[in-house]
Amino acid sequence: MATAELESREWYVASYAPTGVPNSDHIKLRTLTLSIPDDHVAFQILYVSIDPYMRTQLSGLHDGLSLPQIPLGQVITAFGIGKVVRSKDTNFSEGELVMSRICPVAEFGVLPSNLLQKINHAHGVALPDYLSCLGMPGITAWVGIEKIGNAKAGSNVYISAAAGGVGIIAGQLAKVKGCRVVGSVGSDHKVKLLKEECGYDEAFNYRIETDYDAALTKYFPNGIDVYFDNVGGKMLEAVLNHVNHGARIALCGMISEYNKVWKEREGVRNLLNMVGKEVMMKGFMVGSYYNHFEEFVKEMEVHLKEGKIKSKHKIYNGIESFLESLTSLFSSSNVGKVILQVTP
Ligand SMILES: NC(=O)c1ccc[n+]([C@@H]2O[C@H](COP(=O)([O-])OP(=O)(O)OC[C@H]3O[C@@H](n4cnc5c(N)ncnc54)[C@H](OP(=O)(O)O)[C@@H]3O)[C@@H](O)[C@H]2O)c1
Repeated sequence: MATAELESREWYVASYAPTGVPNSDHIKLRTLTLSIPDDHVAFQILYVSIDPYMRTQLSGLHDGLSLPQIPLGQVITAFGIGKVVRSKDTNFSEGELVMSRICPVAEFGVLPSNLLQKINHAHGVALPDYLSCLGMPGITAWVGIEKIGNAKAGSNVYISAAAGGVGIIAGQLAKVKGCRVVGSVGSDHKVKLLKEECGYDEAFNYRIETDYDAALTKYFPNGIDVYFDNVGGKMLEAVLNHVNHGARIALCGMISEYNKVWKEREGVRNLLNMVGKEVMMKGFMVGSYYNHFEEFVKEMEVHLKEGKIKSKHKIYNGIESFLESLTSLFSSSNVGKVILQVTP
């Protein structure tokens, strides 16, 4: 690219949203001109991963996830994939594919080269897979099932938000291990998909089966050994009435509570079950497990090759679609990993 500067559109934080789903008052699109300092690389952004943690960085409040709030006026960042268009580091060349955990939600990014990782694009792997089953959501699922849940053949495994970016992989991983797997989701379409395409033994629509206690009695006649919690709140409380002795609960996230300040969030009244049943419940942040990334990728590549795990994506198109893609996480409209395709 001949010019020294690049024009780009990017999403930034205009005001905080302590409660509710963020809207166009909170995040806005602006145009700016980027220059490229020494040791920096400019890249055209192809795909951006849309994740629930992004919402927690827009509240302006200290949050239980301990992720920093994005300062007002600053660009929103995410996991993203781009193609190098200019480089002031001889180790990066035009046309190479790169990835960053702090990719701006924008058309172009300029980052110090040490914050970029090259993608060794394997034959037959779709690029968005590096943001889903082979990326952060994949290893999150793996940590919850493998390292915290310690799921074994025959374990009764329950997964909430089971058709989402993390849940859909977690359930399939548990199936590979020979577990009996049940998932909950917010639409009948997803119930069908989990059972017919993802190998789940059972799935239910929590918007229809609203008595969670009754639903878990029905779907777990032999109790729950491993719960992969993506939603928290009332569902977590209901699960505690159905855990077996020595059950493990991987607290991955609590999306049912992200749009509320903490005093409005649902409490869990029956923790005493954990004492009597000697249950282990552990919260985790996937970033603490990246030392296992190679081990995870090796395993996942085999499952993908053997067709034992399928990845699913919901792709939104164009930089303008970012707000829509982010707010969609708080509905039940998406199946699989939500990804924004910025450049076709
Ligand atoms: N600990 C970590 O390091 C880590 C890393 C990645 C993700 N996470 C967490 O893992 C969870 C899943 O993330 P993801 O990327 O896989 O998101 P996702 O499932 O792709 O998207 C969110 C899904 O959550 C469900 N949902 C939304 N609002 C809900 C509500 N009020 N009650 C119940 N379900 C609701 C919706 O599906 P349905 O309603 O159809 O089920 C929605 O599609 C989130 O809590 C996220 O914060 C944690």
